[in-house]
Amino acid sequence: MTQSTPPLTSGALPILGHAVEFQRKRAALMQRGFAEHGPIFGLKLANQNVAVVIGPEHQKQFFMETDGRLSIQEPYKFLQAMFGEALFLAPHDKYLEQRPLVQELFKRDKMLLYVDIMQEVVQEWLDGLGDSGEIEITEEIGTLVQKVAGDCFLGREVNQAVGREFWDLYTDVGKALDPLLPPNLPLPKFRKRDKAKARMTEILGPIIAERRKNPDKYSDFLQDIINKAGEDDKPVDEEMVRNLLMALMFAGHETTAGQAAWTLIFLLQHPDYLQKVMAEIEAVAPAGEHITPKRMVQLDHIAWAVREVERLRPSADMLMRVVKEDIEFGDYTIPAGWLVQVAQEIGHKLPDQFAQPEQFDPLRYAPDRAEDKQHRFGLFGFGGGTHKCTGMNFANNEMIIIAALMLRQFELELVTQHTEILRGLGANRPTPTVVRYRRKTAVNQEIGDQKLEMDPISTL
Ligand code: HEM
Repeated sequence: MTQSTPPLTSGALPILGHAVEFQRKRAALMQRGFAEHGPIFGLKLANQNVAVVIGPEHQKQFFMETDGRLSIQEPYKFLQAMFGEALFLAPHDKYLEQRPLVQELFKRDKMLLYVDIMQEVVQEWLDGLGDSGEIEITEEIGTLVQKVAGDCFLGREVNQAVGREFWDLYTDVGKALDPLLPPNLPLPKFRKRDKAKARMTEILGPIIAERRKNPDKYSDFLQDIINKAGEDDKPVDEEMVRNLLMALMFAGHETTAGQAAWTLIFLLQHPDYLQKVMAEIEAVAPAGEHITPKRMVQLDHIAWAVREVERLRPSADMLMRVVKEDIEFGDYTIPAGWLVQVAQEIGHKLPDQFAQPEQFDPLRYAPDRAEDKQHRFGLFGFGGGTHKCTGMNFANNEMIIIAALMLRQFELELVTQHTEILRGLGANRPTPTVVRYRRKTAVNQEIGDQKLEMDPISTL
């Protein structure tokens, strides 16, 4: 067994270590650590030691290690004040009980239903946009993603009945996200969170009670959770239903909105590739046609763009575990109590995995190149192993549908020319980016009108 701990990256300040740089300039810090020491290097965040591990084999070890040795629960404990013991926030045995329950909610037959709901919701939104205008793309898609999640998970009826209030309360809960402060301090944001949770209990209580009485009347995600038996074959208790719903909404909201927005931004920034996307949409699923599962799998070029966004602009770029017993990574020993972290910022940009890694090049996923298939843990925007994202297919389908439906009905143009990564506590997203849109029927109409005006001239 090797004895040395990972070498410390330069630039650690007394007391704070790299904490400030980690918050403000994480990418540069990671690149420096990698350049100085290679695929395993140390950071110090105040008095917390951190080991960053890079490269597909180390990423594999990170994702495949047991929760007993590398705990996922501990670094995310601060989320418990928001979602209780939902999913990996629960002790391991409870997590193992909940996991199949949640996985079942994303099985194929459900997914087919969700894909139809996604199309309905996105189409309604597009119908409401008018013929032309400007939108800030991430905010707009964020609201859309809430509507999709609400209709899929709460059921359309419930979502319409409680929708806006539910999402406002959800926002109050989300704003209390704080990895540093004790969650019970008497601060306004924590009080607001607790008030929102109490109100949510009032709203969902009667809905859950009614569904327990009539389990066959509804067939949506909320009903599926309610129908499931929990521990000892007893029904899942009401608090757990609420916590699971909230946790799933949270896991999928900002993340999907951010990457869906990046997909459109990148496509508009790369007109050559966009042409291929448009040709494919025209051939496979032109405007007005429902996107059936058969059509969906033929929309390769959008799917590759979505995957390239996962690589270059992952919403969740900080995956962490706490070391519970000393563990070897490569030539080093990482002692119990350290944090271990994988970093897409570098792991997704290794030139031996991805050719010209800084470039947006979705064709790298075409079958003749298949760069993502070289190693199972080369691309990990949705994590990997035991805790791999349960909502990955849901999110990818949603991002494909949003992009396809928007692009086939509207001419889009970027008003904001430069978009950067805005790093948040929950998820990364693009800095505010305005997109101008014009409905294609309106564009065609104008061309038609011009033609009419020109016709008399051309007949002179
Ligand atoms: C683009 C959108 C999304 C991204 C980038 C994303 C990313 C991730 C990542 C990286 C993890 C692993 C965390 C870790 O290992 O530390 C994860 C886990 C998870 N995600 Fe997602 N996610 C997305 C959408 C969704 C959606 C839509 C849902 C559900 C509605 C969802 C539900 C979950 C759940 C339940 C887990 C925990 C899995 C487990 O521990 O068993 N995610 N996600």
